[in-house]
Amino acid sequence: MSRSWEFVPFVLGSLRRPVSTGAFVPSTRRCAAALLDGIGAEATDTVVELGAGTGAITRALDAALPVSSRLIAVEINDGFAARLRRTAPPRVEVVCDSAVELPRILDERQVERVDAVVSALPWTVMRPEDQRAVLMAVAKVLQPEGSFATLLSVHRARTDSGREFASLLADTFGEVRRSRTIWANLPPVTAFHCTRR
Ligand SMILES: C[S@@+](CC[C@H](N)C(=O)[O-])C[C@H]1O[C@@H](n2cnc3c(N)ncnc32)[C@H](O)[C@@H]1O
Repeated sequence: MSRSWEFVPFVLGSLRRPVSTGAFVPSTRRCAAALLDGIGAEATDTVVELGAGTGAITRALDAALPVSSRLIAVEINDGFAARLRRTAPPRVEVVCDSAVELPRILDERQVERVDAVVSALPWTVMRPEDQRAVLMAVAKVLQPEGSFATLLSVHRARTDSGREFASLLADTFGEVRRSRTIWANLPPVTAFHCTRR
């Protein structure tokens, strides 16, 4: 499915729920590529995506993962999740739930460990306790060598809540690499790549 097909549904969905969507247009291909760069997608068995939206990053993941890999996409917006179920590649397991419920979501699917977690969640509009709960859950389910990749818009990264989030990433994972600004996205974003020390 081309990007133009997901553009309009995403914009409409974001107008209905601007705060929890956190962006007005889906991520670009360049943004998805920068997010997935270095997560070792080609050598994964199970990958989780948090905040899948209409699937801009899901499709990039599907293209990058081995055919045998499991891809679980979590999305809180029931409209986006329903659409993704119809349009995503067949292997994608779409779960309409909050990322805060990650431990239960994985428990229900008998998943103990995952190789990578990828997220475009709107972190700075989430409650600090929810941010912490999601990051703790991610750190707990990652394989020892697993990686966590997430995005933060550049304008939010410069706010207090953005800086607090960056330091929470460092506290939770130990190793955090920050990408250059990805200008080819609306809004421009930075990708954070985290591994547990
Ligand atoms: C910035 S959009 C990114 C959408 C898509 N991944 C993309 O890159 O175009 C953030 C997405 O996270 C979803 N979201 C927000 N809070 C969530 C939560 N607690 N659990 C799961 N998804 C959430 C929103 O509904 C939205 O689809």
